[in-house]
Amino acid sequence: MSAPRLLVRDLAQLATPAGRDAPLRGAALGTVDVVEDAYVLCAGDTIEAVGRMRDLSPLDGDVVEVDGRGRCAIPGLVDCHTHAAFGGDRVEEFSLRAGGAGYEELHARGGGILSTVRATRAVGEDGLRAAVAKHRDWMRRHGTTTFEAKSGYGLDRETELASLRTIREAGGVPTWLGAHAVPPDFDGDADAYLDFALAEVLPGAARLAEAADVFLERGAFDAAQARRYLEACRDAGLALRLHGDQFTEAGAIPLAVELGARSVDHLEATGAEGVRALAASDVVGVLLPASALFLGRPMPPARELVDAGAAVALATDFNPGSAFCESLPLCCSLAATQLKLAPAEALSACTVNAAHVLGRADRLGRLAPGCRADVVLLDAPDWRYLAYHLGGDIVARTVVAGELR
Ligand code: NIG
Ligand code: FE
Repeated sequence: MSAPRLLVRDLAQLATPAGRDAPLRGAALGTVDVVEDAYVLCAGDTIEAVGRMRDLSPLDGDVVEVDGRGRCAIPGLVDCHTHAAFGGDRVEEFSLRAGGAGYEELHARGGGILSTVRATRAVGEDGLRAAVAKHRDWMRRHGTTTFEAKSGYGLDRETELASLRTIREAGGVPTWLGAHAVPPDFDGDADAYLDFALAEVLPGAARLAEAADVFLERGAFDAAQARRYLEACRDAGLALRLHGDQFTEAGAIPLAVELGARSVDHLEATGAEGVRALAASDVVGVLLPASALFLGRPMPPARELVDAGAAVALATDFNPGSAFCESLPLCCSLAATQLKLAPAEALSACTVNAAHVLGRADRLGRLAPGCRADVVLLDAPDWRYLAYHLGGDIVARTVVAGELR
């Protein structure tokens, strides 16, 4: 006997990025199909059909029905950039920053990322497992049904691999951020640290992770070091990502384009030439407005990127230091109010395009037959409340791989 199907019926609206392409750019980024008085039918972990109630034929067999009245369905959200594997917190640092201390200055004094490295090493694998599961549950309450998470707060063999394992166990997509900072063990010698990381950690990381990431920035790793790290990771079979242009333009976009990276993330400092280069490439620009907001930094040139034809994604950057925020709906609000993206562009950016960054756009990011049955039911009469309801309690229910939560 087959499992009952799940029918979400009588929805005020169903909204999904149109078509089947990925990544979306230009006018296609803002093209969302909206169906009024709609249904979604799921069979097992897959969407069987979507459409208008009046076109729904009688269903045979067991069907579990969910009342969608007064609600809107959108695809399960995809957070393609988080740092969910960490111990401790940075609430003390947050308070100091509120009083005027600078983020980079705290990092240079051994605080910042390095204080989370100390806390993460201290909690061990069991502590990490609990932390990642808790953070995943926080994200899910905000409609995230697929999350990427990076290591990068271990920076030793044991804790980096434990981070990647616990991300995987929690159902996340693991990225090895082996080049996040130079750990204290190496006395500021970035090259010596990379010798160690590539020889001792990469072999294990390549088996656990799907991608590698590097923080290319003054005070972290320069372009030559980033190139060495990324080339070795690519040769080990990992997809490539970069944290680039967060505070300074230090060569992240040209390097990403040359190496065929999946994405460059942050871009708050990107100028006109960077916008042009990214738009002319297949590299996705990942916008992290919660991070810019949390640090009181300029927003990335999102409108310019989209208008130039770049593929952009939208993510939280959830982490204890620069973006203690797990809510993609809040990021959609920031996208609309700060980045000047239309709600439709924001939706595509944190569904289809984010799934593309994770190599999963064939199954994730749309409400369409054959896609994974990941659905968010918004407590709203119009799907654009996703961006409109600033900080609102907007997610009524989620369906994850066909299971109602
Ligand atoms: O993406 N910029 C580098 N890494 C993280 C922040 C890490 C931290 O502050 O703990 C980011 O913003
Ligand atoms: Fe980040």
